[in-house]
Amino acid sequence: MRLDRFLSNLPCFNRQQVRLLLAGRRVRVDGLAVSDPRHEVRVFSRVEVDDQVLQAGRPARYFMLHKPVGCVSATRDPEHPTVLDLIDEPDRHELHIAGRLDFNTTGLMILTNDGQWSRRLTQPQNKLPKVYYVETEQPILEEYVARFREGFHFAFEDLVTQPAELILLSSHTARLSIIEGRYHQVKRMFGHYQNKVMRLHRERMGSLVLDPGLAPGQYRALHADEILSV
Ligand code: URA
Repeated sequence: MRLDRFLSNLPCFNRQQVRLLLAGRRVRVDGLAVSDPRHEVRVFSRVEVDDQVLQAGRPARYFMLHKPVGCVSATRDPEHPTVLDLIDEPDRHELHIAGRLDFNTTGLMILTNDGQWSRRLTQPQNKLPKVYYVETEQPILEEYVARFREGFHFAFEDLVTQPAELILLSSHTARLSIIEGRYHQVKRMFGHYQNKVMRLHRERMGSLVLDPGLAPGQYRALHADEILSV
C-alpha cells in the first residue's frame, strides 16, 4: 500500500496532516526518512512518525524444504501429514507454499510469509523455469522432445502448454524444464503418451536450487542472496 494511504487510513491523521508529515520528513520506513507519498508500505515494513511506532513490521521468512514422498503440499489436511508439519518454527502457520507438489513428488519446496515475493516465483508471466527429474514406466522417446517444445492441449483449461525443454538422460529418465505450474502438469504431459510418471523430483525453481545437503524432510532458511535472486 502507498505510504500516504497507509497513514491517512489511521485514525490519528487526516490527509492534510499526512502531507505535512511527509513534507517535514517526519515519517520513517525501516529506519529511513521518507517523503515520497507513493513509497510502498508492506506488512514487513516498520513505520514510525517522530518517536511513535505506527507499525512494528513483521520479520519476512523464507525457507526451502526437501519435500519427502507421502506428505501433502497444504498447510492443513485431515488425513495426511503436511509439509508444514515438517517445519519447526514458532510462526510456521503464517507460511504459505510457493508452488505445490503432488503427494508422491519430492524435491524443492519454498515456504514463505511474503506473498509479493512468492508471486514472482510462481506467476507464469515471469517465465521462471521449474526443473524436474522424471522417471517413467515406458521408454522416453526422442520424438517427445519436439512435442514438449510445441506444447500439449489441456482440454480442461482449454490451453496449450508453454514450450517445455525435455532432455533425455537414459531410456526411462529425463530432465524437464517448464515455466508454468498447471495441475499435475508433468504427469499430464507424459500421460499424452500413456507413459506413467513413476518418480518426480523438483530440482530447481528459477534461481533457487535444492540444497544437496538437505535430506528428504529437512529444511533451512534461504540465504540473503537466494532471497534477492528472485
Ligand atoms: N507436475 C506434476 O504432475 N506433479 C507435480 O507434483 C509437479 C508438477
